[in-house]
Amino acid sequence: MRFSPEFIEEIRTRLPVSEVVGRRVRLKKAGREWRGLSPFNAEKTPSFYVNDGKMAWFDFSSGKNGNIFDFVMATEGLTFPEAVERLAGEAGLALPQRTVESVEHERKRAGLHEVLEKAAQFFEKRLSGREGAKARAYLTERGISAASQATFRIGYAPAERHALRDHLASLDADVETMIEAGLLVHGDDVKVPYDRFRDRVMFPICDRSGRVIAFGGRALEKGVPAKYLNSPEGTLFHKGALLYNHHQARKPAMDRGAVIAVEGYVDVVAVTAVGFPNVVATCGTALTPDQCELLWKMSEQPTLCFDGDAAGRRAAFKAVETALPLIGPNRSLRFAFLPDGQDPDDLARAGGATAVAEVLDKAKPLVDVLWLRETEGHSIDTPEQRAGLEHRLQEIVRGIGDDSLRRHYAVAMKERLAALLGTNRRQPAGRQAAAGTGARPAFMAGGRRQPFPPPLRGYRGASLPPLSDSITRSPAFARAALPQREALILALILSHPHLLERHFDEIESLDLTNAEAAKLRDAIVHLAGEELHDAGTLRHALERHGLDTVRQHVEAAADRLPHWHLREDAAEIDAEHVLQQALTLHQKMQALHKHLRAAERALADDASEMNFARLRDVQSRLSALGGMEATVEGFGTSSGRPEPEI
Ligand code: UTP
Ligand code: MN
Repeated sequence: MRFSPEFIEEIRTRLPVSEVVGRRVRLKKAGREWRGLSPFNAEKTPSFYVNDGKMAWFDFSSGKNGNIFDFVMATEGLTFPEAVERLAGEAGLALPQRTVESVEHERKRAGLHEVLEKAAQFFEKRLSGREGAKARAYLTERGISAASQATFRIGYAPAERHALRDHLASLDADVETMIEAGLLVHGDDVKVPYDRFRDRVMFPICDRSGRVIAFGGRALEKGVPAKYLNSPEGTLFHKGALLYNHHQARKPAMDRGAVIAVEGYVDVVAVTAVGFPNVVATCGTALTPDQCELLWKMSEQPTLCFDGDAAGRRAAFKAVETALPLIGPNRSLRFAFLPDGQDPDDLARAGGATAVAEVLDKAKPLVDVLWLRETEGHSIDTPEQRAGLEHRLQEIVRGIGDDSLRRHYAVAMKERLAALLGTNRRQPAGRQAAAGTGARPAFMAGGRRQPFPPPLRGYRGASLPPLSDSITRSPAFARAALPQREALILALILSHPHLLERHFDEIESLDLTNAEAAKLRDAIVHLAGEELHDAGTLRHALERHGLDTVRQHVEAAADRLPHWHLREDAAEIDAEHVLQQALTLHQKMQALHKHLRAAERALADDASEMNFARLRDVQSRLSALGGMEATVEGFGTSSGRPEPEI
């Protein structure tokens, strides 16, 4: 990366956010901030704020926010380096000189691009030449028209061992570059490097800007060891970080607000041919987090296509797992299942646009596929199986990164569970109706205070799988440090069970790092169905379920904190105040830890100065929040213990 954090900072200092934003959005001064109409949504009441002091903007209509670079990236579709170059110019700063290494690095990449482009042209020529007859017949037979062949730059690699190598050498390319570009097979036991792709139909794989970075080659004959042979991973090609046909699908996807993801190259070609150019492929890998991000840049709800058979199901479930930690209110997935035994290519060729549209229309939302995964083929005859199902669903919901979406998934799953487990026999009619209509269960509806949350519907009869005391007494358990904040939250609930009622969603979906804390929380959430008026009743209930040791452990950990609110006779309103703070801090911390992991991953992938700066930024925000936690009333271990109120 060419830009140092200092350079970036200099641009930010020189350009007030209001100035950059003000070129696009008419801003009015409002106190210390500026206000205007959101550039991201049509609105009548201004909900877009700019704060020059904080060097930031915030759009309440979409939740988007950021600094000046984020703004031009979001409104003008620039990449980060492009945004830096643009704004550096506006700030009157000259771009930093490139270093010797970066110049060398770019020269090498340019060489690779050049040789790959020449290879693509070579394959295209050979397809239309004499040796290409067999490949042309193959393509015709598969219904891939000449127009499609041109659009996707399909080619043919001749059967000889050195056809490509000799051709590129005649254009002055050196063998080292060809090897690094993945075009030749080489190695200690290979005396003379030879062409990797021989007698194959060639699909060039391009980067986002349409430059060739790799190839997929399909064997013409049946029974050849690899039906598809791909370029090896290398300097330019990272299979899991790109989408086949991204460069051509991007614009139509943006125009239509929809993008389709399939598995194979031919699927992309066929689906495009029947009128869906907004289609990309994963190059035969399971969907990766990077690919999810690329898809979400094109559409809020990409549609993934899977075969209707068991393998297709498995692949869909895998994609669900990958996407869950990443989804949010404006980023999810839909799943289209194809008729058994067909892939998108078969479907498009047999049924044309209508068949494809029909399958896409029937695509299921992620929540349905998730539910399917946990219920299909699982029996729920015994209380244990039902508890198992509930537990799995809770675990899954907990894995959702976005806070508000996680709460909504928790509600959705609870409702489905209630419907599945049949509440008819157990619940009065009123509540049952709520389950089917998507309304929040009555006890979560805020406002009117009920004696206590009614049981999770259908769950009254099912007992908790007991956590045996022998596990909780194990040395490993004793050693595992229980974070104080987690202990505090649980201890507050233990001493004031009524608080659970008002914070049920948050408590239930709270990310607890300590496994035993999570277990205790789950138990308390389950027990919420029983008549738990006070701390004593809850304590007895936990004891009955074999969780007394865990409870004591948590209380002991919390006892090290000077929290008089933990006393059962402390006023509930004070305890709630502390609980609220603890929950907020906990959620903020968790979110920052998530950012930290992402920043670490980014740095590992690309050790650029930018990524390093990003990591340092998250680290400093984490330590600032840690410092705040220590000073917030009731958290600091040194704060005096006020007299309990009488
Ligand atoms: P499929 O086996 O589903 O093939 O692989 P396909 O796309 O239907 O291919 P055709 O119709 O038989 O030509 C899907 C994708 O998985 C990758 C390729 O990217 C392929 O398009 N793949 C498959 C490989 O990389 N290697 C293989 O041996 C097979
Ligand atoms: Mn196929």
